[in-house]
Amino acid sequence: TAEAPSSTRAEIGVIGGTGLYSFLVDPTEVAVETPYGEPSDRLVVGEIGGRRVAFVPRHGHDHRHPPHQVNYRANLWALRSLGVRQVLGPCAVGSLQPRFGPGSLVVPDQLVDRTIGRAQTFYDAGGPVHVSFADPYCHVGRSAAVRAASDGGWEPVDGGTMVVIEGPRFSTRAESQWYAAQGWSLVNMTGHPEAVLARELALCYTSIALVTDVDAGLVEGDGVSQDEVFATFASHVDRLRDLLYAIVPSLPTERTCPCGHALDGVELPIELPE
Ligand code: ADE
Repeated sequence: TAEAPSSTRAEIGVIGGTGLYSFLVDPTEVAVETPYGEPSDRLVVGEIGGRRVAFVPRHGHDHRHPPHQVNYRANLWALRSLGVRQVLGPCAVGSLQPRFGPGSLVVPDQLVDRTIGRAQTFYDAGGPVHVSFADPYCHVGRSAAVRAASDGGWEPVDGGTMVVIEGPRFSTRAESQWYAAQGWSLVNMTGHPEAVLARELALCYTSIALVTDVDAGLVEGDGVSQDEVFATFASHVDRLRDLLYAIVPSLPTERTCPCGHALDGVELPIELPE
């Protein structure tokens, strides 16, 4: 397969969430085709602190893809095909713990999948590929995110479980109370299958969760609204962008984590992009 020209090669990928549609200075746009169809939008490649970064807006630049219709496979495949090996996934989340209010930054270390019917593997045929997913996130990326957030004055929450619901509706009070009673911290609609698809391509993946609301089961009132989520994210998006600018240069140039070995010893039924 032909390699992308060097101006569109990148080592770090950012999948921007709700409200994070522009990210890089001096960007080059690139339309990437994949065997899984089109990514959410054209990718944007540029530089941050001397590191080559590719950005894809998870929902499209005009937010046309709702969480249950995002082409997660195409987004991850496209990033890898540009050379990306470490991925940061900023996202909006609801809080399931009263102590994490809107504006809190959480770097989760676990997820629970409550989605249904999403394409969640690259390995549908041609032989078994069962990746380990006990620890769904890159421990090196997580440390870098927590450190940069602390340095930036966020008081980040290091760890916690994110439950990913199918959406696009928010949870009922009973669902929300049930999730909270399990001890889970966050609820979101996009964290899965993004994380597992990264693992299936042997990429590092770090979820960076910005709390936009306290979920329905925890507070009185009318429940979560889309307006509330979008408005809270918008009011923190500049700070979040600054945080990503700080995390990117602090990521290692050589990977020492297990993520890159996710497929060691497995006979792959498909050829991965270089
Ligand atoms: N994304 C942001 N807030 C959310 C919530 N309360 N539930 C699910 N996804 C969300």
